Amino acid sequence: MQLFVDTADVEEIRELAGTGVVDGVTTNPTLVAKTGRPLFQVLEEICRLVPGPVSAEVTATDAGTMVAEGRRLAEVAPNIVVKLPLTRDGLEACHRLEKEGIRTNVTLCFSPAQALLAARAGASYVSPFVGRLDDVGEEGMGLVADIVAIFRNYRESIRTRVLAASIRHVAHVIEAARLGADIATVPPAVLRQLLRHPLTDLGLERFLADWRATGQRIL
Ligand code: E4P
Repeated sequence: MQLFVDTADVEEIRELAGTGVVDGVTTNPTLVAKTGRPLFQVLEEICRLVPGPVSAEVTATDAGTMVAEGRRLAEVAPNIVVKLPLTRDGLEACHRLEKEGIRTNVTLCFSPAQALLAARAGASYVSPFVGRLDDVGEEGMGLVADIVAIFRNYRESIRTRVLAASIRHVAHVIEAARLGADIATVPPAVLRQLLRHPLTDLGLERFLADWRATGQRIL
């Protein structure tokens, strides 16, 4: 499973991308608003840092303006993926942009039926929102499981990749990988949490203490 980082904070992306584990980035209007910075400046900087797919979301609600916004966003860099909401107009814009060779990520997906429509419209990615379903008492990972199972039945005709989104903790990431999601987009804090284990820290402390006691050096 690939890992994307779910943020518009360029410094966070720079720090995490240095580890080599960041395959792409997802942003949304809320994440961009949080930075307090101009959208196009933020996107240009992110696309320079990460060669993988960088999702940038439209803010129009009618198909025609979504397509125009999508084309403008796609001009930023070849790795931009245009993020569109899972509405009737979002699907039309997805279909039109994909036909022009602009990749799309259909977002705010909350049901397997919606995911199937995104796939039929030709989306490159569909983003089921796990945490927001959990928040309302539903089983967010059940949605990921359903979409992965459905898409597997049609490997030849469905190329849309399942991007598990609205990830809130480490267990979500592990479960998404176990279920076979293609990608999980993960907030920076959760990505850092994936790295940590107390036995790693303890083990390293002991190795270093034992090594110091020998009085030797490698360099
Ligand atoms: C996905 O691309 C979205 O940016 C994101 O995962 C939303 O997550 P949230 O529910 O934590 O806002």
